[in-house]
Amino acid sequence: MSDPDKQHTDANVSVVDVQKHYELEGETIRAVDGVSMSAAAGEFVAVMGPSGSGKTTLLHLIGGLDVPDRGRIEIAGRAINEMTDAERTVFRRRQVGVVFQAYNLFPNLTALENVMLPYLVDGKAADSTRQRATEMLGRVNLDKRLSHRPALMSGGEQQRVAIARALMLDPVLLLADEPTGNLDPTSSRDVWRLMRNLCVEFDTTVIMVTHEAVAAAQADRVLMIRGGQIVGNVETQGGGDEALVASRYAQLVE
Ligand SMILES: Nc1ncnc2c1ncn2[C@@H]1O[C@H](COP(=O)(O)OP(=O)(O)OP(=O)(O)O)[C@@H](O)[C@H]1O
Ligand SMILES: [Mg+2]
Repeated sequence: MSDPDKQHTDANVSVVDVQKHYELEGETIRAVDGVSMSAAAGEFVAVMGPSGSGKTTLLHLIGGLDVPDRGRIEIAGRAINEMTDAERTVFRRRQVGVVFQAYNLFPNLTALENVMLPYLVDGKAADSTRQRATEMLGRVNLDKRLSHRPALMSGGEQQRVAIARALMLDPVLLLADEPTGNLDPTSSRDVWRLMRNLCVEFDTTVIMVTHEAVAAAQADRVLMIRGGQIVGNVETQGGGDEALVASRYAQLVE
């Protein structure tokens, strides 16, 4: 499963003084305003903050989906802010798995085909791809849904297909932007339990944006964001202490 090209290092994610401002109708929007953070391989970090506080912008910067105005972002020892657009696109596709609130599956493809896509794009052989995709769907407890199309699956099942797809290339970083935003509580719980287990099993850093204290409490720590800045770092050690997260959120952010 491990690719010798990959380096899962200690400071797997390193963000130093990153800024992204937008100019809109003469007003400066400080979407991300001097953020520094780091995360180890196998660490599960949750990000919480009010709407418009810069969570999605920060996630996009860390994943190389967007470029900062200022600052340094290293993923597995590579400074993605110094890459050309073409280099960053290749790096991101191979090293960063992304899961969004909307599952973004192709409706005309089966679960298995949806999961196989990143490998096919990466030019890997079809037989080993099929085998790995089947393994990944087993890992998210969907071994009985290989030939289902998205319309025949529940939201939780679709999101687990998206997670399996994000893990296909053994990414050093898995980013999830409100992955449980459309799910009922039981399906949500399945998803964050998976996130927590997979980051250890795959030695991947998981960064998950969420509005739910119960989900954030599953992470090793929770970064609280307000006005584009990190205003708190709450250690939860994955202990599920929802009340602690909710009260710290209220103190720091509200
Ligand atoms: N392309 C853009 N141009 C101008 N402003 C933008 C752009 N993208 C984001 N913003 C602004 O930057 C700020 C941060 O947006 P962002 O999407 O990161 O927030 P968020 O914390 O993810 O919010 P939510 O919880 O609602 O998803 C907001 O004020 C938003 O309006
Ligand atoms: Mg957002």
